Amino acid sequence: MRPMPVVVFASGRGSNARQIFQAAQENASLLSVEALICNVPDAPVCQIAKDYQVPLYSIPIVPKETPIATRLAHEKRIHEVLSHLSWSYICLAGYMRILTADFVERYPHPVWPVSRILNIHPSLLPDFTGLNAYRQAFEAGDPTSGVTIHFVSAEVDAGAVIHQQTFPRLPADTLASFEARGLVVEHQAYRAVLFALAQGQYQVDQDPFSIRLALTC
Ligand code: GRF
Repeated sequence: MRPMPVVVFASGRGSNARQIFQAAQENASLLSVEALICNVPDAPVCQIAKDYQVPLYSIPIVPKETPIATRLAHEKRIHEVLSHLSWSYICLAGYMRILTADFVERYPHPVWPVSRILNIHPSLLPDFTGLNAYRQAFEAGDPTSGVTIHFVSAEVDAGAVIHQQTFPRLPADTLASFEARGLVVEHQAYRAVLFALAQGQYQVDQDPFSIRLALTC
């Protein structure tokens, strides 16, 4: 069996990207990372890619006459890189750009009615979409929070859910301790989803589309 090739998109700290790189390094027969695409040239995730010898494509934003022209020109450069690589999934891992509908629709899944783009979001979607999801969840005070890995659709944080994993909000939590606990869960969840996809360990319902993983790790 050939490893499942992925391209990681990230913008910052890179802890999820690191987990994916590490997972591929430890399980080279299952998963390979073909590239990191980063829109912030000096982001810490760039050094992480170098440490793991993952090819790095630094593609900064170049302002154009309008915001949409800027986005499309930036994405055009990404398409160019992707067209030279062989990959099954894009893994968004702290990628702080909203992809245009044009981008998402260009990469349909070969089998399912979704894109080939995965994202991790630090809440139990559909709760707490958008930025600062940990803060939103913490301030809401629910005793149980969680993370979601989903297929990316044209609408932000709204695509078909692949996997959700919960974690508790403890009475003594600060926002920092709550987020640190959640981040560990994010790392486990992304790894588990990628291994399940790579090994075909999931069940798919077509209507309405949903995918449930038979997680083994
Ligand atoms: C994570 O919390 C992720 O869920 C969110 O952005 C954060 C990125 O963290 N989308 P890192 O760069 O992976 O450490």
